[in-house]
Amino acid sequence: MRAHIAMLPGDGIGPEVTREAVRVLRAVAKRFGHDLTFEHAAIGGEAIDTVGCPLPPDTLALCRRADAVLLGAVGGPQWDGAPPHLRPEQGLLGLRRELGLFANLRPVRLRPGLGARSPLRQDVVAGVDLVIVRELTGGIYFGARERGRDWASDQCRYTRSEIERVARIALDLARARSRRVASLDKANLLETSRLWRETVTQLHAAEYGDISLEHHLIDSAAMQVVTRPTAFDVILTENMFGDIISDEAAVLVGSLGLLGSACIGYSRPSLFEPIHGSAPSLAGRNVANPIGAVGSAALLLGEGLGLREEAIALEAAIDAVVAGGQLTPDCGGSASTEVVGGSIVEALRPAPSRPSAGARKRPRAEMPGAANRAETLQQPGA
Ligand code: NAD
Ligand code: IPM
Ligand code: MN
Repeated sequence: MRAHIAMLPGDGIGPEVTREAVRVLRAVAKRFGHDLTFEHAAIGGEAIDTVGCPLPPDTLALCRRADAVLLGAVGGPQWDGAPPHLRPEQGLLGLRRELGLFANLRPVRLRPGLGARSPLRQDVVAGVDLVIVRELTGGIYFGARERGRDWASDQCRYTRSEIERVARIALDLARARSRRVASLDKANLLETSRLWRETVTQLHAAEYGDISLEHHLIDSAAMQVVTRPTAFDVILTENMFGDIISDEAAVLVGSLGLLGSACIGYSRPSLFEPIHGSAPSLAGRNVANPIGAVGSAALLLGEGLGLREEAIALEAAIDAVVAGGQLTPDCGGSASTEVVGGSIVEALRPAPSRPSAGARKRPRAEMPGAANRAETLQQPGA
């Protein structure tokens, strides 16, 4: 396959972690005989400094013609005082919105050997394997903002169709997993949450009778995510609740630096990005964990390009490196960003003496998006 990938490293640790993701993608391409090309563009603070706006038209044009987009992170203290439209974060929100990426899949799976890295008891986190489906282009993130001298307001607005399309993603995903969806809202208070709950309930009743659906209030759900995380499989929630609960969920599996994500819509390109930010205090030190970015690259292969075998091979390589104890400091190790990336590249080399087919049972959650969805679309014997 030939594919052109837009590379947006962004700010802080973004360039360091995406460098490893690209290195790993090149190794996958070599092993499986694909032709992947990468083209860099500026976003966020880098774009503000070089072009004067956080999402330059050239960057957006490159993304639109790419087969997939890989992003590092945006933001940093040097832009904190900037007017709202000149903040790096605005570049990322603009890109998600312009590309119509209304759903963000954030898989949270405990990788082998990392149970001891969680601040929670090992028996609580053993077997954690869930996916957060976060609405990404609506809600308070995109409502009207106003500011007076002594007051401020941020509007939170959702339409029925915005809720329904992301709920469908979660319910379809559940069909390929354990057929359970937990929808999180604040329906005891917010009108948007009442519409959310009503819409999800109606869609479920009309088309998804085979899926078990629970509604939880976001505050008690936040507690349950850390007390009984294995009770969750697919979590569906709105934009801001999803942002918060996914950083919380990262704690279950050892570090915020470990989680990747896929931002998807109705059409390509999709955007793949770690869930963490630019971690300014780590930038330039070769200590950031690249696994969130490399895991995003695995999602890019499977979800973005439909290369399922390749995505599975990359996930297996990440697991092997983690299990071997090659970890960055956030996970209690002393390996550098580059060493972890290089070890994943090494682990991708097939062992010549051992046949790989059937050698390893495929973990259920490694490709929550296209891979599993595609499997459910396949007819038996097709
Ligand atoms: P952050 O995610 O950058 O960092 C939070 C904490 O997690 C820090 O202690 C950091 O050391 C640790 N961490 C994060 N990624 C890590 C990694 N790969 N390896 C090891 N440790 C890691 O969140 P923040 O400090 O609240 O935000 C910093 C900036 O990033 C802000 O400007 C914020 O707006 C931006 N941000 C951007 C994105 C994005 O681009 N998608 C996401 C979140 C935050
Ligand atoms: C994330 C980030 C962004 C978000 C910020 C940088 C706007 O926290 O991707 O999780 O809240 O969506
Ligand atoms: Mn976030």
